[in-house]
Amino acid sequence: MHFLRQRHGPHIPSSEITPRAAYDSRRDWLKSAGALGLAGLGAGLGLEAAAQTAGPGKLAKLPGVRSNVAGAMAMDKLTRYEDVTSYNNYYEFGTDKSDPAQNAHTLKTRPWTVAIEGECAKPGRFGIEDLLKLAPMEERIYRLRCVEGWSMVIPWEGYSLAELLKKAEPTSKAKYVEFTTLADKAQMPGVRSGVLDWPYIEGLRIDEAMHPLTLMAFGLYGEVLPNQNGAPLRLVVPWKYGFKSAKSIVKIRFTEQQPVSSWTKAAQQEYGFFSNVNPKVDHPRWSQATERRIGEDGFFAKKRPTLMFNGYESQVGQLYAGMDLKKFY
Ligand code: MTE
Repeated sequence: MHFLRQRHGPHIPSSEITPRAAYDSRRDWLKSAGALGLAGLGAGLGLEAAAQTAGPGKLAKLPGVRSNVAGAMAMDKLTRYEDVTSYNNYYEFGTDKSDPAQNAHTLKTRPWTVAIEGECAKPGRFGIEDLLKLAPMEERIYRLRCVEGWSMVIPWEGYSLAELLKKAEPTSKAKYVEFTTLADKAQMPGVRSGVLDWPYIEGLRIDEAMHPLTLMAFGLYGEVLPNQNGAPLRLVVPWKYGFKSAKSIVKIRFTEQQPVSSWTKAAQQEYGFFSNVNPKVDHPRWSQATERRIGEDGFFAKKRPTLMFNGYESQVGQLYAGMDLKKFY
């Protein structure tokens, strides 16, 4: 993300040079369909044309009902599907923003299993088909804020990670949860490079992992996840910088010790364990006070102020009560 940007300069997403036509109609459709629980039934109800703008119709449908979780339906304008799926960080497929969309077609998402291990009474392996059915699929509109200073607004399909974690019955020793993602040289050209210490590992404190906003995502825009966005399942933790949201997860481990993430290993002074979005704590190379909303900001547009906890303070602020957020960055 993070190392090559200055050399290559920022990539300008297509939406900044083409008119933003369908945002609002798409958004309105998603809202009304979600409110009525109709997301998957659009075609049968004469909403077919609108449904086409909700996603490209290329991938398998994965409808979700509007989420009731507090804070789960951000009212911001959605980022265009084209930008969400072409401006990515997925270093296993290359370090340029356009690399994942170009290279991730080699990712095999079936069969897929997720191992659950560590401090829990019921460790086991879950196949992707069972994971898809484990809890009702919800649609959630989250802001995603990357530490590089840009943000997007994405309608995800998934359910709270807690639904899965509680099946494993974590013990009282489970203080943290570690996520390991796929690292296969045969499928992922970037894994042959030494840019990170593979596999990509991330971690959360158990209360963060159990928070209802923490999403196990299987889709976006009403369809299954495109490979470049982390198919077949990824984490989305909307109040933390985007790199905490690990893609293409293969292992979940309950631990007593705080996990060491790949980014912390690469540069500890830059990437702390918590990595909560915080406009008052700058990254050594990037101010975090403002952000560029992909697709909304033309070349001359003003940046928008970054919100504490990415705007989710009323939902998650109490998780960090009494903590020095400069020290625990
Ligand atoms: N997960 C894996 N396995 N590999 C990665 O390189 N990049 C992270 C995160 N998850 C990354 C990953 C970063 S830096 C960000 S900002 C988000 O994915 C980007 O998600 P998006 O491409 O879907 O917007």
